Amino acid sequence: MTTPVYLDHAATTPVRPEVLEAMLPYLGEQAFGNPSSAHRFGRAARAGLEQARREVAAALGAEPNQVVFTSGGTEADNLGIVGGALAARERGGRMCACVSAIEHKAILAAAHHVVHLGGAEVVLPVGTDGVLDMEALDRALADEPSVVSVMWVNNEAGVVQPVLDIAARCRDAKVVFHTDAVQAFGKVRVSVDALPCTLLTISGHKIGAPKGIGALIVRDRKAIEAIIHGGGQQFGLRPGTENVAGAVALGRAAALAASEQAAEARRLEGLRDALVSGIRRAVPDVVVTGEAGPRAPHIVSLCTPGADSEALLMHMDLAGIAVSAGSACTTGAVEPSHVLTAMGVPRDLALGALRFSFGHTTTDADIARAVAVFPTVVDKVRKLAGVLGRA
Ligand SMILES: Cc1ncc(COP(=O)(O)O)c(C=O)c1O
Repeated sequence: MTTPVYLDHAATTPVRPEVLEAMLPYLGEQAFGNPSSAHRFGRAARAGLEQARREVAAALGAEPNQVVFTSGGTEADNLGIVGGALAARERGGRMCACVSAIEHKAILAAAHHVVHLGGAEVVLPVGTDGVLDMEALDRALADEPSVVSVMWVNNEAGVVQPVLDIAARCRDAKVVFHTDAVQAFGKVRVSVDALPCTLLTISGHKIGAPKGIGALIVRDRKAIEAIIHGGGQQFGLRPGTENVAGAVALGRAAALAASEQAAEARRLEGLRDALVSGIRRAVPDVVVTGEAGPRAPHIVSLCTPGADSEALLMHMDLAGIAVSAGSACTTGAVEPSHVLTAMGVPRDLALGALRFSFGHTTTDADIARAVAVFPTVVDKVRKLAGVLGRA
């Protein structure tokens, strides 16, 4: 049996060997201490934690005291949105989260939670290219929301938002701007020194660190309030004994992601273009979601007419290729993804979406295998759909 091909890096990446090596001492007897302890064990852990803070900050053009480690992207997003709303209420302002329609569920659900807290949410539309409707943003800014959150790179279609422009509009309106850079970091150049954002989210397991570690960059501590309560760790913004080994891993992975970004983006773009042109030659009616707009190099969403996502995914898996479906099955009913729906992809087409995503382990040979397998899988799934349709 040939080794399976993993083309689902937007879901998670394997831990990079350099990252594993860096974090191991903080799990073993050398530096396992509690970073708040004053003795030598604590000091060793604290040194690792602070070094990690410096590495994450340097990789993102931020200051070390702006890095708040979290349990991942979801928690960082919640801290930005819910913490931003709570801070606005404290200042006597409006609790209102303003988010784009194609955000990750971590943002959409957090914005919805603001409604449960007695505030409001505004969901901004995007065009068929997935790019934010700037006029809708300007109208929303006039109502002074507590925070605007627009993701840098979308996790399903790979759409890149004009975050510089969005951040500048928020700055001019004196509104806190948060961006979820979970999929952007390491793939496009992410640096807060060139971006007037207040808050920015990253997640370790998308860049070769383990799952369960992420960070929120907080450039103005008054912009958020803590959403969990305990000791005074991490400037009181995220209490709890820090995940030192995770933070060290994130520091190492972030340094690698930033230093390799330009070359890696070029390499991944080549892989993406080879995949799309190879698949198109064999299955000419596939539709690339948001192809007309700016897209990140590592994510492609393809819709195949007359084929269903789940069936495509299963048959790709049987053929040794791991990809992701673009639709979510929650209560037994298969619904097209909210991202594709917001981008105006017709329901029937959206139900045939498949996401291919690449990372540091992806090779030319992986792409060649996917290109070779995909047409046979489509053929099988379409025939099956035809037979079932007639039954
Ligand atoms: C854009 C985006 N935001 C947030 C998250 C959540 O990150 P985590 O899995 O670290 O909680 C993900 C993960 O898929 C993501 O793609």
